Amino acid sequence: MFAEKVLSGMRPTGRLHLGHYHGVLANWIKLQHDYPCLFFVADWHALTTAYDEPGTITQNARDMVIDWLAAGVDPDKATIFVQSMVPEHAELHLLLSMMTPLPWLERVPTYKDQQEKLTHKDLTTYGFLGYPLLQSADILIYRANKVPVGEDQVPHIEFTREIARRFNFLYGQTGRKLPDGEPDLKHILVEPGALLTEASKMPGLDGQKMSKSYGNTIGLREDEESIRKKIKTMRTDPQRVRRTDAGDPEKCPVWPLHQIYSNEEVKGWVQQGCRSAGIGCIECKQPVIEGVLAEQVPMHERARRFEENPQLVKDILAAGCERASKLARETMRDVRAAIGLNYE
Ligand code: TRP
Ligand code: SF4
Repeated sequence: MFAEKVLSGMRPTGRLHLGHYHGVLANWIKLQHDYPCLFFVADWHALTTAYDEPGTITQNARDMVIDWLAAGVDPDKATIFVQSMVPEHAELHLLLSMMTPLPWLERVPTYKDQQEKLTHKDLTTYGFLGYPLLQSADILIYRANKVPVGEDQVPHIEFTREIARRFNFLYGQTGRKLPDGEPDLKHILVEPGALLTEASKMPGLDGQKMSKSYGNTIGLREDEESIRKKIKTMRTDPQRVRRTDAGDPEKCPVWPLHQIYSNEEVKGWVQQGCRSAGIGCIECKQPVIEGVLAEQVPMHERARRFEENPQLVKDILAAGCERASKLARETMRDVRAAIGLNYE
């Protein structure tokens, strides 16, 4: 039996925040102990929407990889690489495009959703329509079994399964029939399953979900002064106008942060102190500030080496790319042979 392989990718959006850490990265870090994992920067996917401003992509990719390493993604355990450094993804994407019915792409829900959302951009491009197919190539080229993704990406994984099935049906016929009368197929491409990543429980500074678009984030590696300031200036229960007014933690965005960073004793102190006006808000925020800062200490520490020596990051990506390329080349050999494109 082969060990099941895990693969996931992230578009390079730049520096990550604690929402990414408590959602996606925590999951990756757990998975890297249990499975062979491949994690990559989907820079071509970024280009599908940023084709008119590609200048930031490489810097964003480097910053993002340093954040992965800072969070604890371990290059000795997981293979970390960049999509565009393994051009076989593009070859598989092209070959798959020959057999992909257009309506399959047009009905992927993210296609219309994103076009409607990003109205300032012309997304009526060939590349953008092919976004899910490029993602399929990313997954199928490694014969990945499990793909950790958020809920929004599930249709892309389902689409990938359909593409794999169609490919195997077209090019994997053995000529035999299974007992149920279905054609016996070689599994040249492997149908992957989604591994649903639990939505991040990380609340933002305003109590809404932490997200760059809400402007309520704390960076994964932010400087101490800025973290202190952001938390100190957080709004609290609007009923607590004066220090002597009693408040209700349920109506305060600081409380969900206590639920992440504080132990039972501190949480009891908040509940009691807030409702009785026994503590002030600045005092109440202190353990949250300390909790966030403590969490960042090992991340700053791990990141320092990479910030000081960018060559280390390049080396990690080169090594990851080499490992990934080896797998990709094997699959491409089988794919070309199955289609009959073989001139050797
Ligand atoms: N589309 C994914 C996202 O926006 C990123 C991605 C690209 C990806 N290729 C992938 C995720 C392959 C998993 C597997 O989050
Ligand atoms: Fe919020 Fe704490 Fe102030 Fe209560 S005491 S309103 S929980 S910050």
